[in-house]
Amino acid sequence: MIRVFINGYGNIGRRLASAFSHDKEIQFVGIGKYSVDNKVDEAFAKKFPVYVPDEKIPNFREMGYDISGTISDAIKESDLVVDAAKDGFGYSNKVNFYMPMNKHAIFQGGEDRTGEKKVADIIHNSRINYDKVANQKYVIQGSCNVSGMGRIMQPMIEKFGDKIQRYDVTLIRRWADLEDKKEVKDSIEWEKNPHHQDDVKSFLPSVKLYVEAYKVPSRMMHLHHMTIRFKDKVPYFDSLSDVYHDEFGVAVLGKTKGTAEIRNKAHEFGFEHDDTNMVHIHEEAMRKNDDTLKILYSDDQTGIVIPENHLLFQSMMFGRPKNKAYEQTDSLFQISKKRDMLEKEFAA
Ligand SMILES: NC(=O)c1ccc[n+]([C@@H]2O[C@H](COP(=O)([O-])OP(=O)(O)OC[C@H]3O[C@@H](n4cnc5c(N)ncnc54)[C@H](OP(=O)(O)O)[C@@H]3O)[C@@H](O)[C@H]2O)c1
Repeated sequence: MIRVFINGYGNIGRRLASAFSHDKEIQFVGIGKYSVDNKVDEAFAKKFPVYVPDEKIPNFREMGYDISGTISDAIKESDLVVDAAKDGFGYSNKVNFYMPMNKHAIFQGGEDRTGEKKVADIIHNSRINYDKVANQKYVIQGSCNVSGMGRIMQPMIEKFGDKIQRYDVTLIRRWADLEDKKEVKDSIEWEKNPHHQDDVKSFLPSVKLYVEAYKVPSRMMHLHHMTIRFKDKVPYFDSLSDVYHDEFGVAVLGKTKGTAEIRNKAHEFGFEHDDTNMVHIHEEAMRKNDDTLKILYSDDQTGIVIPENHLLFQSMMFGRPKNKAYEQTDSLFQISKKRDMLEKEFAA
């Protein structure tokens, strides 16, 4: 069994812990927590062993928490660390712990792939480069928007690749996550250099892709408007289901009022953490005009990257064939079942 430690217990870390702790192929070492707050109670309620920085042990013990040891102890006991730190902290964790202790590590999308603080050479997207990350020591799991774009673009490339001229994507990004305490400002903001364009091009280097990103006051998912320009007329297909029906983690929805309706439905269905873990194509908003195809899809911000981390783990630690890894991840997350429920609920 592979021993796995989740370093960080924020929006991503707590979701990773819920999933990885249920995988029978994993010996779950525990989670790393840095501040004393109500998430510590949640971790104990879920019976996760909790590890904290050496110097903070007295703070946690003072509050009556039965800490299992230091972060360093947990990493020593592990074969792989899934780092779920705040943006940029993954680099110091790599330098201070993972490298000196010779441990494998998965980093999240807020870490750098180039420059002084680079943590890995490769960004993973299961649909595109799952095989390339096999047996690698350090890999970044692409962020939610990057994971979603790869999942939509690769099937298009496989079906119509040489007929496509360019992709233009407008990302409408949620301001904060469901659990974030931070204020959702009444403003629309833009990004000068969205990292998503370079991140996607790192695994799809030959595509012409242009990304603009806007942040809007919502906690309910991201929305991508993708314009695909063909060299000639848009090829014939009846519905986007023709292209995406067999794709892992892609739902094609007929009718929806917006992103909140999907999130609320996920809650009503009892999906863990209210996540759908996928992208949802909004078929009713598809437009075809001469050489231009427009696709609208929403992207489950925190949820989509959790099964991606699980797939990445299987490639890195087992070198398992992709179809087997998808089966394993589907049985843990019930993605196909969730997709069928959503497609039925939001049928045209
Ligand atoms: N949120 C999303 O939708 C999303 C989606 C895809 C990817 N990501 C990426 O995932 C990563 C984590 O994001 P998040 O949203 O989960 O952030 P978050 O909610 O702010 O959580 C970050 C966690 O990092 C912990 N932490 C602090 N110092 C640390 C250290 N040295 N090592 C490990 N953990 C440390 C914090 O602990 P305390 O709370 O105890 O201080 C906190 O639990 C980022 O790279 C982000 O870009 C986020």
